[in-house]
Amino acid sequence: MAEFSLPKNSKIQKGKHWPAPGAKKPRTFHVYRWSPDDDANPRMDTYEVDMAACGPMVLDALIKIKNEIDPTLTFRRSCREGICGSCAMNIDGTNTLACICAIDSVDKGDVKVHPLPHMPVVKDLVPDLTHFYAQYASIRPWIRTQSPVPSDRERLQSPEDRKHLDGLYECILCACCSTSCPSYWWNGDRYLGPAILLQAYRWIVDSRDEDTGTRLDELEDPFKLYRCHTIMNCTRTCPKGLNPAKAIAEIKKLMLARKM
Ligand code: SF4
Ligand code: F3S
Ligand code: FES
Repeated sequence: MAEFSLPKNSKIQKGKHWPAPGAKKPRTFHVYRWSPDDDANPRMDTYEVDMAACGPMVLDALIKIKNEIDPTLTFRRSCREGICGSCAMNIDGTNTLACICAIDSVDKGDVKVHPLPHMPVVKDLVPDLTHFYAQYASIRPWIRTQSPVPSDRERLQSPEDRKHLDGLYECILCACCSTSCPSYWWNGDRYLGPAILLQAYRWIVDSRDEDTGTRLDELEDPFKLYRCHTIMNCTRTCPKGLNPAKAIAEIKKLMLARKM
């Protein structure tokens, strides 16, 4: 197996190495570690895991490491079904969900696991999503109406109108796309990023929403929307197969259409 090496000028230190003597099918995992509880630089710890006694996904390996090798390893997970979005992390250079990322899909050699890039780290593989969620709250992601609620039924939507939400409602807000976007890396304080813009579009095209004009007004800003430069990393990385770049382009088209 290839020897893992860090760049010479890296501030990330090489950490502990847990071998797995007697493993029938060993695979090596290099995992980013950092704790706010000491003054140490981040480091990469190395764990050997016996694939003969491990589930198929990267999350299975992380859980095995935590349960059987190193209980201090910290990461988020909940559903293990690609639904909750909490296990988003960078695996072998790609942002994805650890619970649906097959270990075998990672090219042969060692598996490298980092937290989502360009986010503050709470601990180990746990990014701080406070700002991301504040940006989500800023688009007020719920149906906004002016007309009175019908007294005898819910606000209905035709099957054709409902179809406009396909490719949008499936977003689980995992942040893989936003944290893969260079524009979001450099301007994340003011640029909303692909995940939040996809969500904004989800409400803009909802036929039951009656606040489209205000929603567009709120996005008419040199940073919030127009820092998307069509780099497309977002769409390439989305583990749910969604297309946030297209949603952003649709918002830009609506902006243009209302000016004409
Ligand atoms: Fe995650 Fe995809 Fe939603 Fe982005 S668009 S937050 S990558 S599910
Ligand atoms: Fe970023 Fe995607 Fe636009 S990667 S620049 S949000 S197309
Ligand atoms: Fe829920 Fe991975 S644990 S998406």
